[in-house]
Amino acid sequence: MINLKDPGISSVFKKLLTGFTGLSLVGFLIAHLIGNLTLFAGPDVFNAYARFLHHFMHGMFIRVAEVGLLAFFVLHIWSALSVQYSKRKARPSQYEVNTYAGGPSKRSFHSMYMAISGLILLVFIIVHLIHFKYADHDAVGTMKLENGIEAVNVYKLVVSSFQGNFGYVLFYMLAMGVLCSHLMHGIWSAIQSVGLTRPSTIPFLHTAGMALAIALAVGFFLLPLLIFMMRGTFDPEAVPDYSSGHAALTSLTSFFPAA
Ligand code: HEM
Repeated sequence: MINLKDPGISSVFKKLLTGFTGLSLVGFLIAHLIGNLTLFAGPDVFNAYARFLHHFMHGMFIRVAEVGLLAFFVLHIWSALSVQYSKRKARPSQYEVNTYAGGPSKRSFHSMYMAISGLILLVFIIVHLIHFKYADHDAVGTMKLENGIEAVNVYKLVVSSFQGNFGYVLFYMLAMGVLCSHLMHGIWSAIQSVGLTRPSTIPFLHTAGMALAIALAVGFFLLPLLIFMMRGTFDPEAVPDYSSGHAALTSLTSFFPAA
């Protein structure tokens, strides 16, 4: 029988949990970025996508996903902080100077500041949710999709938020710098923690982890900036012209009737 109270086993378990939940949250970020890229396709496609998420499986999918996401966030923060706390407690004295170890240990600026960057990201996520998820959706109104169904105009909410205030764009850009730092160490560390590495795959997985971290951060970094700069492309008041056939994608939503 495995004894989770054994300090050695419990620290291995917590590392595994941090890695598993971290990689799952990266999976969410990949899906979220791909979904957000539909902003480029216009209000009809983005609003149809948002509506699809909220009504898929009669709303069950989003509810289960949200509970899972919240549980993963909480477990990730708890296990990561308690691994760090146990490490500190086990050390006879604190290091005088935090230095960059480099080389194969991959200890770096990013690993030393994981807890700080993680907590900054937590603040970012709270602000983000208040602004987008728990915003007054009645204030932005609805938009008719190609199939005649009314969808909340989340496109208008996102576009007008970034176009209305460069400070908000800057806040996102700074937060995405922090996300980059967190993921550059976190993805690689999580891959190791869940035991995906073999000596022959280390260089590839390390490079792939870094590349994914940078791609995600750059993607989320560019979106607010491009929305702010490309006002011709992103118009919060845009009304799609369905007669042109441009909005064919939204007809997909007819498979998912209004709940
Ligand atoms: C340019 C960047 C981003 C944009 C435009 C964006 C947009 C949105 C929007 C519109 C929603 C609300 C969806 C709805 O309720 O219909 C949302 C939800 C959410 N976003 Fe973002 N997001 C961005 C970046 C991020 C980042 C970097 C993170 C995490 C580090 C994140 C985490 C979340 C979470 C956790 C939710 C709640 C998901 C749910 O409960 O359904 N977002 N985002």
